[in-house]
Amino acid sequence: MRMYDLIMKKRNGDSLTREEIAFFIDGYVGGAIPDYQASALCMAIWFRGMSDDEIVALTDCMAHSGDTVDLSRFGELSVDKHSTGGVGDKTSLVITPIVASLGGKIAKMSGRGLGHTGGTVDKLESIPGMQVSMDTEAFLRQAEEIGVALISQTGNLTPADKKLYALRDVTATVDSIPLITSSIMSKKLAAGSKNIVLDVKVGSGAFMKTYADAKKLAQEMVSIGKSCGRNMAALLTDMDCPLGHAVGNSLEVQEAISVLKGDVKGDLYEVCVALATEMVVLFKGCMPADAREQVVDAVESGKALAKMREWVAAQGGDPECIDHPERFQKAAHILPVISDRDGYISHMNAEAVGSAAAILGAGRLKKEDAIDYSAGIILNKKTGDKVLRGDILAYLHTNDENSLKEAQERYRSATEFSAEPPADRTPVYEIIR
Ligand code: URA
Repeated sequence: MRMYDLIMKKRNGDSLTREEIAFFIDGYVGGAIPDYQASALCMAIWFRGMSDDEIVALTDCMAHSGDTVDLSRFGELSVDKHSTGGVGDKTSLVITPIVASLGGKIAKMSGRGLGHTGGTVDKLESIPGMQVSMDTEAFLRQAEEIGVALISQTGNLTPADKKLYALRDVTATVDSIPLITSSIMSKKLAAGSKNIVLDVKVGSGAFMKTYADAKKLAQEMVSIGKSCGRNMAALLTDMDCPLGHAVGNSLEVQEAISVLKGDVKGDLYEVCVALATEMVVLFKGCMPADAREQVVDAVESGKALAKMREWVAAQGGDPECIDHPERFQKAAHILPVISDRDGYISHMNAEAVGSAAAILGAGRLKKEDAIDYSAGIILNKKTGDKVLRGDILAYLHTNDENSLKEAQERYRSATEFSAEPPADRTPVYEIIR
């Protein structure tokens, strides 16, 4: 087999066989196929697309290109959730204890944040004492005992995706549905859960800016996951405005705790309940209305909050933080952003809000950058809210006083106003099962 022939075949619009796809992935990960040939194939895929059979084969080969996590000890109860990434997206922190309190087994490896979106592992690390690394046996034992363990990625999971994603990033081939599907789903398959719920974000702060593209991606991922033997659902959710009111690591953890206490409703609560409901539907096999009732009850009864305490303590964190938010690190400088006009907030550029938070120290511009856990933004007003001149739009939190000017400018330019109220927003657009 020659890589040249595979590139030509795809360039001409023909389908690759499973053997050909396996030859490409093995050769590329092993170093026998050079970057220039892999990038030519990615570009041919970008133009020509792939059939479902090709995407299944590519996903499967990538999933098995390195280590895989064996969650078979949990039978039908293992359940995972993946978000395509957004600003203020702390849903994992809310739904994980809800779902674990209802009998699901979540043994999850998560990533760190880069650019305008945060990572769950960084958020967890902002809880004093919380440990996010553990050996595999301890990780699985904890999930078995309390229903939840969440750590940063260890081992050599999906090396094919690491290498290909870096290549796509510099060859203008990221935005291809077959390549995104195989990238995300290979990681989910390697992570081992039987039940997978995807949160596909749509809007200015999302990877997918249009509804049509997000829906196509969601449908493709659900179909590929099912073909690979997993129970799947995907939600299309709004990311045209940051989710909830907090952006930044410890600020987001505190907001997640407020949701678990039943103190916060609105878009964040709705998205969390919808995601947790689909997870319960998949691992318990119950009807959506019944699952939703169980999820709401887990919050209202305090069961989910008790699970959060147990989870934090199990990973070395200080569970007292949950009832005493003053135990979280506080930023030295907190600057209110004041409105200079009357009107309604008609639109927020969520990506720009995320980058303002990163400037304050909440995110990384490069992988090696350190994070200021206490930095971030509390949004006082969001899209649709009425604003009077002199009202506080947001509070900027940082330990780096010098970052305030640029972050404030970025925040102001992210916020648009209108004289009339904009149309109501819908946090959850559609569920694909
Ligand atoms: N996120 C991923 O993990 N992979 C992609 O290809 C795009 C977004």
